[in-house]
Amino acid sequence: MKIVVTGGAGFIGGNFVHYMVKKHPDYEIIVIDKLTYAGNMETLEPVIDKIKFYKADIADRKEIFKIFEENKPDIVVNFAAESHVDRSIENPEVFLKTNILGTQVLMDASREYGVKRYHQVSTDEVYGDLPLDRPDMFFTEDTPIHTSSPYSASKASADLLVQAYHRTFGLPVTISRCSNNYGPYHFPEKLIPLMIANALADKPLPVYGEGLNVRDWLYVEDHCSAIDLIIHNGKVGEVYNIGGHNEKANIYIVKKILELLGKPESLITYVTDRKGHDLRYAIDPTKIHNELGWLPETKFDDGIVKTVNWYLENKDWWEKIISGEYTEYYEKMYGNR
Ligand code: NAD
Ligand code: TYD
Repeated sequence: MKIVVTGGAGFIGGNFVHYMVKKHPDYEIIVIDKLTYAGNMETLEPVIDKIKFYKADIADRKEIFKIFEENKPDIVVNFAAESHVDRSIENPEVFLKTNILGTQVLMDASREYGVKRYHQVSTDEVYGDLPLDRPDMFFTEDTPIHTSSPYSASKASADLLVQAYHRTFGLPVTISRCSNNYGPYHFPEKLIPLMIANALADKPLPVYGEGLNVRDWLYVEDHCSAIDLIIHNGKVGEVYNIGGHNEKANIYIVKKILELLGKPESLITYVTDRKGHDLRYAIDPTKIHNELGWLPETKFDDGIVKTVNWYLENKDWWEKIISGEYTEYYEKMYGNR
């Protein structure tokens, strides 16, 4: 089996490549990644001898067709995306190019070269948000698309295009919509690694608004196992929500990280809220459980300890990142917030 993994040098794509190398040692894994600020070859270093790597932009039709011509993949899993909501508020354009046009190019190549399964890695953010005072409400696969940020709008646009390619051209597609992931190799611009890095440096922990927004956290390996099941056993044309009923307010997460690192809560600094900030995400994973037997394995209390320990033991990986161009980004986003 030949499988193309796009965005494989990023957080979830990288974890997926590690997962697949271990789970399916007989598969040929072809990674395509543009190596944007979020892509990091060091994430792939432990498995680099077991994969084929191409540095390419998924929106570059010529390059992508050439790679497909050379490799004739059976399965394509598209993780490649601009993924940070705050950056999409600053500069939406690249989100539309990569997330929408890039998806189109990959699907065109998949049609041309007879790919047997095109899987689109999407997000629960396409459903918009849920009220904070309705803990009985969850996103199901039938919840209407209703986006808030340029990021989520670009991901929702891609999802619609994927469904259109299935209906119009018969492309054998599946889509998964997962909640917030956490775990090793998470880029330090996102909540959990940012708070770990700042706490370790005794820097202020910038909590947006009052820290009451809720996210539904899933350990990244559980996301990988769900995608592995979907690409092999999922029904063509279907959408699968992925989440493990792990809703936490941001402030809870931040305090938990401080507790695990033995740092004082006085580091918490409340800053101006994100524009259009989604209140609450919560996934109903009944469909993937009932149809494919998927269940998450890592409980939050264990996953967060594993994650904090990983950042403590892998400072080489993230200290380089936060000392480079990231410094400018941090100053721009948080300097006067
Ligand atoms: P990430 O930002 O860590 O990684 C994205 C990767 O894609 C990077 O390696 C980057 O270099 C690559 N990339 C970006 N633009 C590209 C392009 N034009 N061509 C080729 N490669 C390109 O993102 P992530 O958190 O790993 O997210 C992966 C996917 O999962 C995304 O599609 C995202 O929407 C989705 N998702 C993420 C989460 C989450 O909590 N992080 C939750 C649900 C869904
Ligand atoms: P993030 O990790 O950016 O993921 P998403 O916006 O895709 O859910 O943010 C998670 C939550 O944490 C979100 O409610 C915004 C909040 N947040 C902060 O309070 N401070 C920060 O510095 C960051 C990056 C996020």
